[in-house]
Amino acid sequence: MFNTKTVSMRSKIVAGNWKMNNDCNETKNLVKGIRKAIKRLPLKNTRALVAPTFVNLTTAIKRAKKSKVEVVAQNMHQENSGAFTGEISADMLKSIGVKTVIVGHSERRSLFGETDEILAEKVNKAIEKGLEVIFCFGEQLEDRKANNHFTVVQNQLEKGLFHLEAIAWNQIVLAYEHVWAIGTGETASPEQAQEMHAFIRKLVQEKHTTSVADNTSILYGGSVKPSNAQEIFSKPDVDGGLIGGASLKVEDFKAIIKAI
Ligand code: PGA
Repeated sequence: MFNTKTVSMRSKIVAGNWKMNNDCNETKNLVKGIRKAIKRLPLKNTRALVAPTFVNLTTAIKRAKKSKVEVVAQNMHQENSGAFTGEISADMLKSIGVKTVIVGHSERRSLFGETDEILAEKVNKAIEKGLEVIFCFGEQLEDRKANNHFTVVQNQLEKGLFHLEAIAWNQIVLAYEHVWAIGTGETASPEQAQEMHAFIRKLVQEKHTTSVADNTSILYGGSVKPSNAQEIFSKPDVDGGLIGGASLKVEDFKAIIKAI
C-alpha cells in the first residue's frame, strides 16, 4: 500500500507591508537594519519579505542583495502596458527584479475601488508573468457581526482565485485579514484566526487536492505585533503574517520573525 499522507512543504512567511511610508533614505536604513537584525537567525523554511512603495523598490532591492530579505511590490496593474496613468505593470516589476506582488489588500479594495473582478484579472496577469501573488482578503466588521464572515471569505476566494488551475497555486500565498483588525490595534483571537484559516484550507482542498491545500501558505494579518505574534503563529493553519505598522521598526519586525 502506498502511504498517501502528504508532507507539507509550505513556507512560513513574515511579510512587512510598508504601505505609503518611508522615503528613499528611510527605505535604505530600514532594509539595512532588517538584514542585519535577521542575519544570524536560523530561518529554516521561513521567508522574510518587505514591501516598500513602488518608487523605493529598486533602492530596497539593492540594499537587500545577498541577504535573507526579499523585496516585494504592494500592487500592480492588470494590463501589460498602455494609457493607465500612474500605474505599474508586471513586466516593469520583473525588470527591476521583483518576484512577488501583493494583490487585493483591503485598502486597495476599499479605498481604490478594486473589485473581485479586477483582482481576478490582476491575479491572472501576475501568474502569466511568473510572479508569486500574495492574495489578500477578509471580512469587514459588519460581516463578522452579522455572522457572514465565512460566506464573505468564500466569495472573495471563489471570485478572485478559484478559476485558477491547481498548478498555478504554486505561485499563490493567501493573506487573510480581519479588515476590522488592520491598523486598529485590535486583533482577532488566535482561535478566531485558526478557525478561519482551517476553513480556508478546507475550501482549497475541496476545490483542488489535499496536497495543494497543504502546500499553500496562509498568512494572518491585522495588528500583529511582537506581543501577540507567537500565540497567533502557534496555530497549525497560520503560516505567518502580513504585518503593517509593526514592520516599520527593525526590532518589532525582528521579534515577529523570531516568533515564527
Ligand atoms: P497592521 O496592517 O499590521 O498595521 O494592522 C496589516 C495590513 O494592512 O496588512
